[in-house]
Amino acid sequence: MSSLNIPNHVGIILDGNGRWATKRGLSRSEGHLAGFNMLKKVSPYILNMGVKQLSVFAFSTENFKRSKEEVGFLMNLFIKKFTEESSYFNEKNIKVVFSGIRNKPLPSNVIKAMNSLEENTKNNTNGILNICINYGGRSEIIDATKKIVNDVVDKKLDINSLDEEIYSKYLYQKLDPIDLLIRTSGENRISNFMLWQLAYSEFYFTDTYFPDFNEEEFDKAIIEYNKRDRRFGGINYEKKNN
Ligand code: FPP
Repeated sequence: MSSLNIPNHVGIILDGNGRWATKRGLSRSEGHLAGFNMLKKVSPYILNMGVKQLSVFAFSTENFKRSKEEVGFLMNLFIKKFTEESSYFNEKNIKVVFSGIRNKPLPSNVIKAMNSLEENTKNNTNGILNICINYGGRSEIIDATKKIVNDVVDKKLDINSLDEEIYSKYLYQKLDPIDLLIRTSGENRISNFMLWQLAYSEFYFTDTYFPDFNEEEFDKAIIEYNKRDRRFGGINYEKKNN
């Protein structure tokens, strides 16, 4: 893997926990727990490889439509893991941040656990793990626009100076564009995930359910990424003439 081009920012839509569990005769909750355990294992591997930012979609604003039991289980899992695993992320030197609306219907004790994990890991330097919870890509753009309008009204921002670089500073987190987006479990859509940051991403879809998406599966995504010809709207003349 050493000679490969490693993406700076990777996004993963964590999908297939439920189907992974059902296939094994387990409950959906057990699937979510297995999903968290895989995230815990694979995220240091990804960040140690040289990826600087890893964004994962853990819970969308629409996921609140799931059964009361499933939403309740996930909220408790978030509280438990964000509290318990703080020392793990510090040991791995990973800075954890969250993107999404930190407000209702997200329970206040989940928000508290998110805030404290962010605070506890804020000085870590071996990459950023951005966990999207109560997140929607369109809402992120609307929220950024509201903040921009406020700053224009307050004369803190000159509307004529607004460009993509300044706009991106108003998003939930100061992150770079996503180079590689991975979605597990065979679904080929982006489901309102980081719409701004995905503008020029390479997409990699795999049938593997997220609880099986281990180091080897990630290597396959990197190998595929290295076959892509990224032109950002231009033309790669070197390749074209060959
Ligand atoms: C997708 O599988 C998973 C979710 C919506 C749940 C959230 C993700 C995790 C529990 C892993 C990360 C955990 C933490 C604490 C950050 P699905 O339920 O949509 O699966 P299905 O499509 O097979 O039903």
